[in-house]
Amino acid sequence: MGVLFSGSQAEFAVIAEDWLRSVRDIAARGVFVGGPPVASFEQRFAAYLGSRAAVGVGNGTDALFLALKALDVGPGDEVITAANTFIATVEAIHHTGARPVLVDCDPDHFLIDEEQTMAAASPRTKAVIPVHLYGQMVDLQRLLPWAESRGIAVVEDSAQAAGAFHRGRAAGSQGALGCFSFYPDKNLGALGDGGAIAVNTEALLPVLRKLRNHGGEVRYEHELPGFNSRLDPIQASALALKMNYLDEWSKHRRAVARMYEAELARVGDLMLPAHRGDESHAFHLYVVRTDASARDSLRRQLQKKGILTAVQYPVPVHLTPAFSHLGYEAGSFPNAERLAAEIVSLPMHIAMDEAAVAQVAGEMLAFLGPVRV
Ligand SMILES: Cc1ncc(COP(=O)(O)O)c(C=O)c1O
Repeated sequence: MGVLFSGSQAEFAVIAEDWLRSVRDIAARGVFVGGPPVASFEQRFAAYLGSRAAVGVGNGTDALFLALKALDVGPGDEVITAANTFIATVEAIHHTGARPVLVDCDPDHFLIDEEQTMAAASPRTKAVIPVHLYGQMVDLQRLLPWAESRGIAVVEDSAQAAGAFHRGRAAGSQGALGCFSFYPDKNLGALGDGGAIAVNTEALLPVLRKLRNHGGEVRYEHELPGFNSRLDPIQASALALKMNYLDEWSKHRRAVARMYEAELARVGDLMLPAHRGDESHAFHLYVVRTDASARDSLRRQLQKKGILTAVQYPVPVHLTPAFSHLGYEAGSFPNAERLAAEIVSLPMHIAMDEAAVAQVAGEMLAFLGPVRV
């Protein structure tokens, strides 16, 4: 038996019946954009996060872009984020006309380096986007007051971190705005694209509601040049159903991480992900490191045995052709570059159990050999 990389089909099986019923209800009402399912999901999601409000949008990339637009980020501004994020974070900055300023990550937690973030700030810095990468929250305790004292907005890229809490605060609830992706494989995943912006600064709510809907909350009342980026009710109803399971599924992911830790402790040439051991990691991904020279052959061997893995992400943003114009080069961010060559994401989802973890670990042991003492 193989081991799937994604749990989205297993999640679908859990909500299928109720969701199909809500799709029929939506069709019977004939409101396929907006309507009560979206508003009620937004309220519920905001309450879960402890945010003032949530604004559903078309996807996580738009959530970031519209968040920056609402903060009036544009040409002449700079926005700091991590070099080892998914490219969407940097695309969102780029499309506002602002300049993305990248910094390295720390080598253990893979999270944005706090000192480098502070050092990269200039009078032009309008926002910082800490990325809660792989589901693990960046500690914002120092960064938030530092940013506030300089008038820099913090936008949390929480695309991978729904269900994570640090010191009692949800991912996405501490910065001015928190951006979520509901891409199907995410911890809170729709059955297609979707996203949301958690609004923690109430003054930004009206502009966000306008930006996502052609510049107005009321049809044909266009108060500013907006966009079309809305969460649709068919997705919102799937998300509302999955919210019933989010905490349980996050708990399961943390349990799978502990199983991996136990099973992989005997495997050589392998570094397991560092974390705080609490709810601040929602384990969207379980990312291990091995020697760069062995990484791709390990993945091929696992695939031969039916175990699917991934690399998130094989090229750090500054080395992609898309962002070569930023002027960084190989060596600019050594931690991010090294990680890109060494990381492997192992299967991590709600359908993983002890047998599946043992199977993955067994194949890794067979390929990499035991820990040398
Ligand atoms: C860290 C991060 N930021 C942003 C995004 C963009 O989200 P989406 O794919 O919904 O546009 C993703 C997800 O793909 C992500 O992982």
